[in-house]
Amino acid sequence: MKITVIYDNESILPGTCPAHGFSALIQLEEFDIIFDTGWNGVWLLRNLEKLNLSLDRVKYIFLSHQHWDHIGGIPEVLEKIGRDVNLVIPKSFTSGFKKELARYANLIEISSSTTEFYQGILSTGEMESSIGIKEHALYIEKYKVLVVGCSHPDVYKMVKRFGTVNVLIGGFHDFKNVEKLGAIVKSKIYPCHCTEKKKEILMQYPEKANKCGVGLEVAL
Ligand SMILES: [Fe+2]
Ligand SMILES: [Fe+2]
Repeated sequence: MKITVIYDNESILPGTCPAHGFSALIQLEEFDIIFDTGWNGVWLLRNLEKLNLSLDRVKYIFLSHQHWDHIGGIPEVLEKIGRDVNLVIPKSFTSGFKKELARYANLIEISSSTTEFYQGILSTGEMESSIGIKEHALYIEKYKVLVVGCSHPDVYKMVKRFGTVNVLIGGFHDFKNVEKLGAIVKSKIYPCHCTEKKKEILMQYPEKANKCGVGLEVAL
């Protein structure tokens, strides 16, 4: 399997466009999953093209939380896919937004419990931050990979839903306890997007942590 970062605040591949937000394409054996969409679908599709990737094999769109920098690209993504696709979202998305999305995709709404929505592919379940932001994250069991959007409910708690993980990638918003990460992430840490402590994480875990940005490929 391969995860490619296709939208991020930073770019590590010349010619791709950095922009606030996050999105990754997860290529599995059977199909692909697109995780979040950044805020600008035009730039997202442009980055995909630059990276020689397409949405042709996408069977699931996974939206982590209803923030502009993660859902903004959804119209272009849906239009590009242009066929029935499954859309995995937290149950708490606003009813108007859900109603609109349901016109173009099959909604799979995730409640607060950990949910296996396809064999070996799970959602943490909708979790809530201290200021009431609801968010879930994507877990691929076979590779013990957790992909997170902003981790508003606290990335540590999100990983803890699965005990430990091998790979953690995405935004770790507001996360300050850098020293606690090493014990719960066994192999690789990719601090992306809104992670405040990127520098500290890279310094504290020189073996495990790698810089994130558009163009990053994680092959497992
Ligand atoms: Fe974000
Ligand atoms: Fe966010």
